[in-house]
Amino acid sequence: MSPQLIQIHQADPAAIRAELIAGLSAPVATIAPKYFYDALGARLFAAITELPEYYPTRTEAAIFVAHADAMACRLPAFETFVDLGAGNCEKAARLFAPFHVKRYVAVDISVDYLRDSLDILRRQHPHLALLGIGLDFSAALQLPEEVGAGPRLMFYPGSSIGNFTPDAALDFLRQVHGAAQGGGLLIGVDLVKPVAVLEAAYDDPLQVTAAFNRNMLRHVSRLASADFSLADWQHVAFFNTAASRIEMHLQAVRDVTVRWPEGARQFSRGERIHTENSYKWRIEDFAALLTQAGFHDLQHWTDTQGWFAVFLAKAN
Ligand code: AVJ
Repeated sequence: MSPQLIQIHQADPAAIRAELIAGLSAPVATIAPKYFYDALGARLFAAITELPEYYPTRTEAAIFVAHADAMACRLPAFETFVDLGAGNCEKAARLFAPFHVKRYVAVDISVDYLRDSLDILRRQHPHLALLGIGLDFSAALQLPEEVGAGPRLMFYPGSSIGNFTPDAALDFLRQVHGAAQGGGLLIGVDLVKPVAVLEAAYDDPLQVTAAFNRNMLRHVSRLASADFSLADWQHVAFFNTAASRIEMHLQAVRDVTVRWPEGARQFSRGERIHTENSYKWRIEDFAALLTQAGFHDLQHWTDTQGWFAVFLAKAN
């Protein structure tokens, strides 16, 4: 028997085209970071996490290894472990034993990402109740009733929260607070650190991050029938100290016209398409954000360098 899968968000090709064209036509052109993740983009991101310069993934993993038992002692009571952006489900699976998880719900933008992961999990954890939900929760976190009654431990690792502006992060965390049904939240957040460390993590010498960024144009060309030529675009990443965020852009290396069936956009040499913000938080500011979102009994764990933090907070 295969785990139950529910697709909520149906990717509507016309809506996707309209969203992409609106972003490309805006005064400062933008493409949302969710468009990094076609099949190749997901693999390039996995490659990024292996880079020596990209510290977040391994630093967070080390925090969980060192402190999972301490976290387990402080968990609110919960019926269901809800993994937001589950992907291959590996981060969550490492917590099943220490956290005594009995019911696991994996949420990702498409059930296609979850089918294989949940099949593997079913064999490794035959007594675990499993459910996969395809949902674009970046728009709104509306979980179906199949998730089940009772308190939930919401899991949002990897500093994915960094893609939200602080205002949007507050709005999103309020929704997570509601969805927790009196349980709690376990969330990973990347911290402010020396600029050279941050910039190397997003502009690595092997140029894997550059490939990840530029690959978005292949994906968008496919989705919007646009004619981006990758040779016209270079990767730009820097820390914006005032906004406390890494910004990634694609910069035109010459004057470029990009065409799609309904129109076109001209870019002058040096003009950019903004593709990602990755906010870096201070412990006290993120704690204040969680409190504002309605959470309490905050606890956090960091690595010895103080580069990354995992917060646990209660929602009841
Ligand atoms: C998946 C959003 C956490 O911001 O570090 C990695 C994505 N972008 N390198 C991040 C990313 C460039 C990543 N998040």
